[in-house]
Amino acid sequence: MLVVGSGGREHALVRALARAEGNPKIVCAPGNAGIARDVEVRPLDVSRPDAVATLARELNAGFVVLGPEVPLVAGAADALRAIGIPVLGPSASAARLEGSKAFAKEIMQAAGVPTARAATVTSVADGLAAIARFGLPVAIKADGLAAGKGVVVAQTLAEATDALTDAIEHRVFGAAGDIVLIEEGLVGPEVSLLAICAGTSVARFPAARDYKPIGDGNTGPNTGGMGSVSPIPDISDADADRLVDLVHRPVVAEMARRGVPFSGVLYAGLMMTPDGPRCLEFNVRFGDPETQALMPRLAEDAVEFLGGAARGELADRPVRVHADPCVAIVLTAGGYPGTPRQGDVIHGLEAAEATGAEIYHAGTARNDQGQLITAGGRILAVAQRGITLTDARAKAYAAADLISWEGMHMRRDIAGSL
Ligand code: AMP
Ligand code: GLY
Repeated sequence: MLVVGSGGREHALVRALARAEGNPKIVCAPGNAGIARDVEVRPLDVSRPDAVATLARELNAGFVVLGPEVPLVAGAADALRAIGIPVLGPSASAARLEGSKAFAKEIMQAAGVPTARAATVTSVADGLAAIARFGLPVAIKADGLAAGKGVVVAQTLAEATDALTDAIEHRVFGAAGDIVLIEEGLVGPEVSLLAICAGTSVARFPAARDYKPIGDGNTGPNTGGMGSVSPIPDISDADADRLVDLVHRPVVAEMARRGVPFSGVLYAGLMMTPDGPRCLEFNVRFGDPETQALMPRLAEDAVEFLGGAARGELADRPVRVHADPCVAIVLTAGGYPGTPRQGDVIHGLEAAEATGAEIYHAGTARNDQGQLITAGGRILAVAQRGITLTDARAKAYAAADLISWEGMHMRRDIAGSL
């Protein structure tokens, strides 16, 4: 089987697949230096559906898992289905749930999914009028893909105006900002609820949470994710079931009704407001870094389970997981989320691995001497299960503390608070 992508999410998926019965043959493309220690890696331009399909055919892949959103929105799943290779991931048309926030909002409204009130605008003047209606704080969102950077939650009119002008007039997100969503600002703890969907079946994972800001106490600029935890104490399994009935099932039904059936991972980003849950966004893929806390808990045979879902054979029941909570700590390069330092030698990996922690690589490479070095912003995720959340957290930090490089940073409060 082929896993497409090169981050910690893909490393966690590769490890989960490798644990399956029968010693499965796994290839990851393009992967990274850490993934290459576990399985064969192949070069790949993930933005080219034809390249993804050609590689999958050459490997005679039994099924393909598409990790990132870029190949999905570009149509890699369509290219694979066209040559008869099962794929976990939606068609380009269905991937618009992530690729266009305006489309996602339209589907949520049509499906009756509770979400923030919003207006779609294409000019600064219309945007300002919408902001005047909604009041502050207000969320300003570029419609298209912006590598996780397209949302500004503005507390003041000046911030809101800047965000709107940047997107529409300065085109800092390119065409992704031609349409902008203005949304009422909501408050409350956030929940990531991922479910694999195929046909009318929905198989949800336990709830998870990621920690986006760089600093402890959710301070500083947003990142790609500084850590994750699953389950989360404030969302029970019964709550998660209710949320899937409220969000995922109506969306899957609405997509089918429109002739764009959704098949793949549907990730709902939810906010638990005082007025009840609200859906803020969809991703059409596994979350990063949520997957790094979910895969160590997986109690399914991943090849059977994910491969079955790719072939459309999915039972309508929650994904089976180990009861033990899991905490994943992300270790980042100095300077991140600005321009990160690169090429620093990573120390202490073997000692950390010897504790039994899962070390997932994201931004690693090898230097001329063959040493593992930093090559990116988010470098590693250290994941560990425990009999309690406190235990998992203590073990994950104990393992992470054995790793070091010049300028390394981690948050100290992952899984410690909302
Ligand atoms: P999104 O990509 O739409 O999930 O937005 C990214 C982040 O922005 C979310 O995880 C929230 O922290 C925040 N956010 C998005 N929409 C809103 C909103 N309507 N009110 C407050 N915060 C929001
Ligand atoms: N954890 C956020 C994302 O995967 O987009």
